[in-house]
Amino acid sequence: MKQKTLFYCTACGNETPKWAGKCPACGAWNTITEQPETPKCAFKSGKQKNFTARKACPITDLQSDEEIRFPTGMRELDRVLGGGAVKGSLVLVGGAPGIGKSTLMLQICSRLCESSKVLYVSGEESEHQLKLRAKRLRVESASLYVISETSLGGMLESVTAEQPDILIVDSIQTLYNDALDSPAGSVSQVKDCTMALMQLAKGQGITVFVIGHVNKEGSIAGPKVLEHMVDCVLYFEGDQHTSYRILRAAKNRFGATNEIGVFEMRDEGLSQVENPSEMLLSGRPDDAPGTCVTCVMEGVRPVLAEIQALVVTSAGGNPRRTSNGFDYNRSAMLLAVLEKRGGLRISACDAYLNIIGGLWLDEPAADLAAVVALASSYLDRPVPGDLVAIGEVGLTGELRTVSQLAQRVSEARRLGFKKCVIPAHRLEKLGDFPGLALLPARNIGEAIRAALRPKE
Ligand code: TYD
Ligand code: MG
Repeated sequence: MKQKTLFYCTACGNETPKWAGKCPACGAWNTITEQPETPKCAFKSGKQKNFTARKACPITDLQSDEEIRFPTGMRELDRVLGGGAVKGSLVLVGGAPGIGKSTLMLQICSRLCESSKVLYVSGEESEHQLKLRAKRLRVESASLYVISETSLGGMLESVTAEQPDILIVDSIQTLYNDALDSPAGSVSQVKDCTMALMQLAKGQGITVFVIGHVNKEGSIAGPKVLEHMVDCVLYFEGDQHTSYRILRAAKNRFGATNEIGVFEMRDEGLSQVENPSEMLLSGRPDDAPGTCVTCVMEGVRPVLAEIQALVVTSAGGNPRRTSNGFDYNRSAMLLAVLEKRGGLRISACDAYLNIIGGLWLDEPAADLAAVVALASSYLDRPVPGDLVAIGEVGLTGELRTVSQLAQRVSEARRLGFKKCVIPAHRLEKLGDFPGLALLPARNIGEAIRAALRPKE
């Protein structure tokens, strides 16, 4: 019998019966590929029977302490997971090649091995290479089992043989099920292997960490469905040229997704950065126009970040506007407010905004610092190095309050800042901050006057 083929979109995983240039589901071009039809259930395990045999029960009869969390030994990772890993969960760790995913996973093994048995299945490195890396990272424990394996069947056999508490799979793109004809890393393989891992996690209570590479667009290579299937999706990000790495949760069934973990890649592996504000502010220029510090909330943590702006007279008719780490539309709005309400003739200028440290500021609280940095660059007047600006800017140029202002101001004081520009109507409610002067401003004009140093 001729084998049936189906067409999949490599971007979203949508199935279509015939080829098309554009995916009808997600609208991406040239992403539809032909692949043999996936058998309805390529993966068979004895456990499946148990699933159907289970009965529904009233929610009130369930024990609420069934969610068992355990620390991974990396506080920054635990924080992103929502206070430790949950037993029997499937966690996907995505990131660009070389960012440090394998390093992070191997490093957490040292703590995990103290109380659990860990099986590390690598399709990317040989056992010998793993040994060398583990030796360098000083992760050597008799309860860490490693195997270099790419076949799903082989991996399941080692799981049955070793009965680990924790399974680490490096990476989902190298794992393949030989019952399927498609190559490793293809849509059907990635889906099928993830399904098998999900059954291990839910059926046997094994905590599974899966590494996935991201493609050029920044999503995990393979279909989006992968992200729907797992419990947590963590992204490991960072600039290849700097040693700082940020781990963030894109999805978490057991906690909030607004936490970040900060790491630094060193010779001896990843080390945790307890104080991200200090890291983000290191190397800040003294007395240069066009930079201002603000405080944003990353989860429950206040983090100080530097916003840089460069405003120069445009050479052509169409001024260039770029923003890096800051919402483009928001920066366009702030430039318009500066022109109309701040009285700066900025529309004829090129304007560039950049957030230092690879951070992405999507909080309105960063508006004021962006406006101050732009004005500082335009007027060529520096902002004092010990000043922070916090506040949302409205379309009439007024300053609006932001949430958790007191916490943000305390963080600025803790890091030695002496002045803080805040929305005026919050001054009374805020209380005192010894050693830090609060500079109230009602609108951007007042804020710029308060923040910029007078021209000599
Ligand atoms: P790796 O964990 O192999 O990345 P991934 O699994 O995400 O592809 O990390 C690779 C990079 O990390 C590599 O460029 C070298 C660097 N590195 C260090 O700087 N120090 C170390 O101790 C280790 C293990 C890696
Ligand atoms: Mg790797």
